[in-house]
Amino acid sequence: MPDYALFIGNIKKKTGIDLSLYKEAQMKRRLTSLYEKRGFGNFIDYYHAIHTDKVLLEEFLDRMTINVSEFYRNAQRWDVLEKKIFPKLLAENKKLKIWSAACSTGEEPYSIAMVLSSHVPLHDISILATDIDTGVIERAKVGLYPDRALKEVPASVVKNNFINEGHFYQVKDDVKRTVTFKQQNLLEDRFDSGFDLIVCRNVMIYFTEEAKEQIYMNFSKSLKPGGILFVGSTEQIFNPAKYGFESEDTFFYKKI
Ligand SMILES: C[S@@+](CC[C@H](N)C(=O)[O-])C[C@H]1O[C@@H](n2cnc3c(N)ncnc32)[C@H](O)[C@@H]1O
Repeated sequence: MPDYALFIGNIKKKTGIDLSLYKEAQMKRRLTSLYEKRGFGNFIDYYHAIHTDKVLLEEFLDRMTINVSEFYRNAQRWDVLEKKIFPKLLAENKKLKIWSAACSTGEEPYSIAMVLSSHVPLHDISILATDIDTGVIERAKVGLYPDRALKEVPASVVKNNFINEGHFYQVKDDVKRTVTFKQQNLLEDRFDSGFDLIVCRNVMIYFTEEAKEQIYMNFSKSLKPGGILFVGSTEQIFNPAKYGFESEDTFFYKKI
């Protein structure tokens, strides 16, 4: 559809975000329902509006980056992280280099800190957490969550790591201090290296196959040999060897 192609080109120029690397049918459906709600008839008119109206631009960015997250998402996997993966990594290395990529509003990197704190004191933990969306990063830094975000978190973990404020929970400062948030686009920006653990969950599903392959390749280069990539529970890698990975457990891959 040429007007979508034009839209992609314009958005790339304006924001640096390359929508052609996201699955087309899915993205088009999401954006079409958004522009129709705002009374526009096609991508061309919608772009003209976004170009001049900051509120519409923010709304567009919000819709294209799906920010849903929760603490201990797919709780069983976090159990494997705590009881199997961390002990193995810590046997090799006392100080782990960890990256939560596409961290959204912070539930994921804070969950990593909470799980790791059963092995290592909080003041020895440091986690890099990145997302393309600066809005979610600001919310992540505040660290205040509605109770539904904590439904998978064990009661003892809630007690040790949060301050309850009515229907909201505030992440304690010593947990917040373990995480450094930065803006980063997985499809454009360079990756740091030497990681023991990269957690990247529930974002690859939005990318095209080519984009996904490139990112897996880059994750592999960014991990130390023996390092682990932890992916989302719908994001099994079908040919891990292609990227220099072997399966370590369900949804965990080891860099060979
Ligand atoms: C569904 S959330 C996943 C949050 C968390 N990882 C989890 O599993 O609960 C997807 C996140 O990916 C981010 N995202 C989308 N495209 C991205 C890109 N190109 N680079 C980095 N982050 C991106 C979105 O802003 C959003 O916060």
